[in-house]
Amino acid sequence: MNGRLIHIGSDHGGFKLKEILIDFLKEKEYEINDLGTFSEQSVDYPEFGRKVGYAVLKDGYFGIIICGTGIGISISANRLMGIRAALCHNIEYAKLAREHNDANILALGGRFLDELKAKAITEMFLTTNFEGGRHQKRVECIDKI
Ligand code: RB5
Repeated sequence: MNGRLIHIGSDHGGFKLKEILIDFLKEKEYEINDLGTFSEQSVDYPEFGRKVGYAVLKDGYFGIIICGTGIGISISANRLMGIRAALCHNIEYAKLAREHNDANILALGGRFLDELKAKAITEMFLTTNFEGGRHQKRVECIDKI
């Protein structure tokens, strides 16, 4: 596991925000694995949710996935056992997704977030630790469903 390696992917609805976050994360010396898409040409979000999901399962956290709303791409990634993708609309969601859910992928809605808010959510997600304790058992239950 390499905590400085971020797997990132989006569909066309998340492409612009993906590029912004890649620059932001590089400035903070994260290593980036950009799994596409690479333009605003229309593509199907499940492919990118899955690609990031598999990369996170292989190399450890974290992943970031972005589509227009964040909904379709998070549903897609969450089909993979072991993936806990959390769609976060603000920094409080990002904090709790890490503290309580040990989320390993941050999902964002590229059409609903401004740049500053998206960066703040991302930073909160990447720097908040899982609390464990009473949340550990609940997180373990997810994969037993
Ligand atoms: C693409 O138009 C849009 O449906 C997609 O980006 C996403 O919002 C789906 O959940």
